[in-house]
Amino acid sequence: MVPKTRKGLFGPCIYNSVVFNFISNGQRHLIFAPIWSNFSKSIKEMNLELTEEHIAVRDAARDFAQNVLKPTVIDRDNEQRFATDEITELGALGFMGMMVDERYGGSGMDTVSYALAMEEISKVDASVSVCMSVNNSLVCYGLQAHGTEEQKEKYLRPLASGQKIGAFCLSEPEAGSDATSQATTAIDCGDHYLLNGTKNWITNGGCAGTYLVIAQTDVEKGHRGINALIVERDMPGFIVGAKEDKMGIRGSDTHTLMFQDVKVPKTNRIGEDGFGFKFAMKTLSGGRIGIAAQALGIASGAYELALAYSKERKAFGKTINKHQAIAFKLADMATQIEAARLMVMKAAALKDAGEDYDLASSMAKLYASEVAMTQTVEAVQVHGGYGFVKEYHVERLMRDAKITQIYEGTSEVQKIVISRSILKD
Ligand code: CAA
Repeated sequence: MVPKTRKGLFGPCIYNSVVFNFISNGQRHLIFAPIWSNFSKSIKEMNLELTEEHIAVRDAARDFAQNVLKPTVIDRDNEQRFATDEITELGALGFMGMMVDERYGGSGMDTVSYALAMEEISKVDASVSVCMSVNNSLVCYGLQAHGTEEQKEKYLRPLASGQKIGAFCLSEPEAGSDATSQATTAIDCGDHYLLNGTKNWITNGGCAGTYLVIAQTDVEKGHRGINALIVERDMPGFIVGAKEDKMGIRGSDTHTLMFQDVKVPKTNRIGEDGFGFKFAMKTLSGGRIGIAAQALGIASGAYELALAYSKERKAFGKTINKHQAIAFKLADMATQIEAARLMVMKAAALKDAGEDYDLASSMAKLYASEVAMTQTVEAVQVHGGYGFVKEYHVERLMRDAKITQIYEGTSEVQKIVISRSILKD
């Protein structure tokens, strides 16, 4: 394949291929080259080096996070402002449909690349990265893996290119961890379903154009009577409710959604009748890799800030990194973050290799989110009083870390998945 060359305004773009970024004649140029992913092969052979292509994707995401997101992240968090322009830019750069086939307008990358990009964006702005994660691994991946050709053309294409944003609607007031207890109903009316109910805590709820909604069609059949429907924002009877005022990821767009007699064509059902619950579970298995990578990014972002601060701040006549109390904290952080990174990469590599990744993704999410929570608290501690004020970023990372132990399956839900897997006959 002949590499394509493009110019970019400020930084690297990724479309169907990896980007190399260089400056000549005072202008920044981008070389696009195809990715030959061999990380999954490498991990089996215990060669844990990233390929040059993976490193280029990671650096492109890092460049965007540090240069575009960082200058405004504190204000957006304070104002609970969704990063509309920044996410449009992320989409144009190819980060919103990273694993979608090129023929549907995606970037055609692997899960390892996606996890690397998620880590870099999350180091700076977890509100942006949760939007990216839901769009990539719940909505786009779910449609690509289980949608019909027509659904992919109509719905996946604009989501993969970032023209539209997607939302995944499973949780309800009475159905969080107990996801089979769906009170939202999708009554079979021949050529369409009549959708009624309420969904809670929906990421991208206010800004999305396309919603994947899980609803009960046949109560008698339990989880086998649940369907997944594609709902368009402008369908009559669909109401975007209140925006949540949250402790963390305050720049993300989290809403209650209401459905009042929404007529959804049967052609908008994903998979066979009754496939909705399994669709949600399968999709969430991949989504948990994205959230594990987000947690890893939050932890490593806090660690990098704490490390840099410890080399500057002096106490008792020397920089604080020379005090064992701080040096040992940094050692624990570095070790746990490295372990979390290996778990995230293993789960991603298994998915890329077409192997079972349910156990690995739950383990990675469980561990990485615990590391994010404990180590962001430690990063605040390393900063002392400065850690408690917004300017130093670590207090926001600490608040953002908490949700990674809750969404896409709480830590307790991950333990259900893990224990069932290791205890099965
Ligand atoms: N792949 C395929 N099928 C699966 C599956 C998977 N990973 N996991 C379960 N299933 C199937 C089972 O095989 C079973 O099917 P059969 O009866 O035909 O064998 C069926 O699904 C029901 O499974 P369980 O009996 O295990 O169901 P359960 O009621 O015991 O619940 C649970 C299991 C793991 C607790 C599940 O309910 C769960 O994951 N809950 C958490 C929900 C969640 O993650 N919500 C996140 C909301 S989205 C979000 O947070 C996005 C965001 O905003 C960032």
